[in-house]
Amino acid sequence: MISFAGYDYVIQRVYKYKQEHVFQYWDQLIDSEKKALLDELGIIDFDLLEKIFKLKENSVPEDFSPAPYIKLPEDERDPEFMKARDLGVQFIKEGKVAAFLVAGGQGSRLGFKGPKGKFPVGPVSGKTLFHFHAEKIRASEIKYGVKIPFLIMTSRDNHEETVDFFRENHFFGLTPALVHIFPQNMIPSLDLDGKLILSDKSTIFMNPDGHGGSLSALRSSGALKLLEDMGIEVISYFQVDNPLVKIIDPIFIGFHILNKADVSSKALMKAYHEEKTGVFVRFKNGKLGIIEYSDMPQEKIFAKDSEGGILYCAANPAIHLFDIKFVDKITGSSNVNLPYHVAKKKIEAFKDGQQCEITGLKFEKFVFDAIPMAEKTVILETKREEEFAPVKNASGADSVHTAQAMMNALFRRWLSNRGVKIPDVVDVIEISPFFALQESDIPEGTIVPAQEKVYLE
Ligand code: UD1
Repeated sequence: MISFAGYDYVIQRVYKYKQEHVFQYWDQLIDSEKKALLDELGIIDFDLLEKIFKLKENSVPEDFSPAPYIKLPEDERDPEFMKARDLGVQFIKEGKVAAFLVAGGQGSRLGFKGPKGKFPVGPVSGKTLFHFHAEKIRASEIKYGVKIPFLIMTSRDNHEETVDFFRENHFFGLTPALVHIFPQNMIPSLDLDGKLILSDKSTIFMNPDGHGGSLSALRSSGALKLLEDMGIEVISYFQVDNPLVKIIDPIFIGFHILNKADVSSKALMKAYHEEKTGVFVRFKNGKLGIIEYSDMPQEKIFAKDSEGGILYCAANPAIHLFDIKFVDKITGSSNVNLPYHVAKKKIEAFKDGQQCEITGLKFEKFVFDAIPMAEKTVILETKREEEFAPVKNASGADSVHTAQAMMNALFRRWLSNRGVKIPDVVDVIEISPFFALQESDIPEGTIVPAQEKVYLE
């Protein structure tokens, strides 16, 4: 057994759990590397790893049905929607809403190095995803005359770069003290025999613990306390990859408040059966929730309703509202842990004295597993063309090209619906959140210049 002053307990645990292969290069390490390795091993929950290794495959409840949701009205002056909007506006003005961006993912499908939020998406401005999100929040602050705290969850790999990017850009006009950027927790991946993986001679390979780790990270980072002290009641949660998301949406917030919901989620209608989105379901115990596309049984993916439409049609654009008391409850002393999901992935490992690619198991928590823990959940339909343009792939579907085309189409619709003439020569239009956050914000008398690319600021 190896030894290192002050680390007997850590070392004994590593041997106890039969993970001592992580010391195979021990004699080649300098003291600081030995210490770093032991520090990392010291915080690993080996019992948990043993438990989740046994998962091997994700278990999905077999008995579920499509979830009910609030449909969009034919007429947007629908009294129920107007009531929700007025209530939402009031609530926002009272300073009770915070925005929460999860940006800890690795963006591997996009093939972009660095935080995905730094990816440029503005069809004319070339603005990055972070820039879009931050400006929407700043524009909402101006519109509602209130300060809106902005929380951003990063991961160990992209934290520094994210913080630097916000600093370099002067927090895009937001109050720096109200932008709270914190990293999520990491969890070791395992090889197919349940052994820890080395990424070099002295480092354990870990991956971020999934966006489900965001709720506990809110607490451990101190953000939850900060929000509670500020009188925040609702956290508006969104993903980094969607430049169209309505971050501060009065109608959504209004329905959440009216229904005294713990969690509310937006749903969009699935475009086709095999679309890679989670779907909303009602479990046997009556609770609502989401089943991820990869966990959905084939026959349910292709199931049809009585009119031949998609039975499981309510898809997850990953836009949620969390009541702060609910977050407090599920991350607090009761500590109801969200389950881990396992996925077989290629991992860059250090094995047999060299770098190589192996197949390993990555473990992640999903934030939507919190939904069935809620007493009350609201699911509100949203329109894909208004709110969902994810940038996930380098090309093809769900790429920057599709997102830019959707932005251009949406901004054109806003202008046309407001009676603004768009000269034929105009090819692309981008509207800054400061110019309009939604169609009704387009000022009377707006003139679109006759040029190929138009940016309305
Ligand atoms: C996700 C949803 C899917 C939904 C789709 C909509 C999951 C498991 N799936 O799929 O149901 O229909 O979005 O676009 O959520 N993130 C972290 N930390 C992590 C992992 C991810 O912060 O450890 C963040 C990412 O930065 C990103 C978001 O979570 O903002 C989504 O992650 P991603 O892996 O891209 O999810 P999808 O597979 O696209």
